[in-house]
Amino acid sequence: MAAFKELVFSGVQPTGNLHLGNYLGAITKFVTLQESHDCIYCVVDLHAITVPQEPLTLTNNIREVTAAFIASGIDPKKHIIFNQSQVPEHAELAWVLNCTARLGWLNRMTQFKEKAGKDRENVSVGLYAYPTLMAADILVYRATHVPVGEDQKQHLELARDIAQKFNNDFADSIASHGFGEEFFPSPEPLIQGPATRVMSLRDGNKKMSKSDPSDYSRINLTDDADAIATKVRKAKTDPEPLPSEEKGLETRPEADNLVGIYAALSETTKAAVLAEFGSAQFSTFKSALVDLSVAKLGPIGGEMKRLVADHSYIDSVLADGSERASVLARRTMNSVKDVLGFIRR
Ligand code: TYM
Repeated sequence: MAAFKELVFSGVQPTGNLHLGNYLGAITKFVTLQESHDCIYCVVDLHAITVPQEPLTLTNNIREVTAAFIASGIDPKKHIIFNQSQVPEHAELAWVLNCTARLGWLNRMTQFKEKAGKDRENVSVGLYAYPTLMAADILVYRATHVPVGEDQKQHLELARDIAQKFNNDFADSIASHGFGEEFFPSPEPLIQGPATRVMSLRDGNKKMSKSDPSDYSRINLTDDADAIATKVRKAKTDPEPLPSEEKGLETRPEADNLVGIYAALSETTKAAVLAEFGSAQFSTFKSALVDLSVAKLGPIGGEMKRLVADHSYIDSVLADGSERASVLARRTMNSVKDVLGFIRR
């Protein structure tokens, strides 16, 4: 395999209700990776409009995700934070990759099936093509590593398939333009730790989600201490005390979820949490989880609210990040055009 410079890329949709799942599954990983890698973190507004959005709300949500990145500790000077629509090469490469991806590949995407439900004839074409835009997001920077939650695994596999097919389809042109054997890397998903799939607080078999109609199903990053405490105390559990071994969580999805959340927030493992709380009643464990959640999330929520109100600061971060991202994206897109045989200025 050709050597590509290691580069991290990931994205979050500005669709409101940023929650603990987004934070533990993705954003905390973004924060850690900035110590070891160059990172690009994108607010994917083009993805958001695959389902209807109210324009003023969308503007606020774009600022809110940006604020969440910064409040969580991502440094927008050292790394790149921007919103997708300010770098048109994402949409441009997505079109090219729509011509690489096969219909059969997209037909297998479970997230599309879930989101479209029974009303398939009536969802947008954009919702169907969502995963090729996601592949373009990553490949337009030739990024090598992509931190995401478990639910994005299939989309990442598709991005790898698309990259490989492009490399194969245009192998001769890629070589003759001096790009070696592979033009695009196969981006590697980074899905690790005890909270890659945080579940609803009301139902341990359902993913914690921005769109769940019940606000009690999730902890939002902007929830205050009272809201966090109420939601954790009301979280569904079972009547047994906590087990001492991880194996004891296997048939207890709600207990497994809360232990996973505790482990991720305290940066340890489920086994270590059970070593401490094994045989404790849920009331005891939930009190500790409330304290931990409030200590970890409270300051982030407060800082997010402060930053979101400062439109000119947030917008300047996005403008600066977009400019820096554009330079990189344009370079790739020009090379793609050369490989395809387009004539360019
Ligand atoms: P989005 O906005 O739905 O979610 C953002 C990130 O949060 C993760 N996540 C979760 N992790 C653990 N438990 C949960 N309950 C949970 N819910 C969400 C997601 O896996 C994701 O990492 N398609 C992406 C956005 C995207 C993207 C990209 C990601 C667009 N282009 C390129 C990576 C690379 C999405 O909808 O994320």
